[in-house]
Amino acid sequence: MSDDTLNGFTPEDSRIPRVVVLISGGGTNLQALIDAQQHDELGGEIVAVISNVADAYGLKRARDAGIDAVALPHHEYESREAFDSALIKVVERHEPDLVVLAGFMRILTPRFVQRFLGRMINIHPSLLPAYQGLHTHRRALQDGVSDHGCSVHFVTEELDGGPVLVQAAVQVTPDDDEESLKARVLTREHLIFPIAVRWFLEGRLRLQGNQATIDGHPLPFGGMRLSHEDAAEELDEEE
Ligand code: GRF
Repeated sequence: MSDDTLNGFTPEDSRIPRVVVLISGGGTNLQALIDAQQHDELGGEIVAVISNVADAYGLKRARDAGIDAVALPHHEYESREAFDSALIKVVERHEPDLVVLAGFMRILTPRFVQRFLGRMINIHPSLLPAYQGLHTHRRALQDGVSDHGCSVHFVTEELDGGPVLVQAAVQVTPDDDEESLKARVLTREHLIFPIAVRWFLEGRLRLQGNQATIDGHPLPFGGMRLSHEDAAEELDEEE
């Protein structure tokens, strides 16, 4: 290599963005993120998976993928604040660029949320702001809605209330029950979550005040929407 070439060479930031994933259960969303990483589609590396449930199957998924898997059982702490303090330490030890809640079933303290504000996202099984909280599929069926789905959003102090980044909808059919609806929504969760993570790690998504932006432009209220057609095509489903 000549000097000229060396002089013209601009070193790129070769640091791979770091992701810490928090889970409480089976971890199918975690698996979708691991699969995306293994296909070089995540835009970063999952450096640790932390579960507040010691025997969560998602921890095995992490270990199988060679990812640091940490059990931090919340019942070993005397208060929510004490647990969250311990959790902050474990998360920070891994120096994440992004904290991902993937079925993490604990309400976080304002201190935890503030610590990672703007670099923490969650996936929720409804078209937010509809059906914040639990039992989303059951409630959607009881209401007889025609459209249901899932959302990825920035985590703020309002439970399931932060600005939405990406959504995918499914049509509710007359023969749906809670299980069938949940299964169909999950397939969409697995599509949009890795996309949202990648966009964040590419620096495209930001939280500015209570507004999410993509490439510097305000996102619409429901975030970016994955169309029925694109999801069905990706999943090889008949429409
Ligand atoms: C998903 O439905 C997610 O939306 C919700 O918790 C569930 C976790 O499922 N927050 P899994 O552990 O990723 O399979």
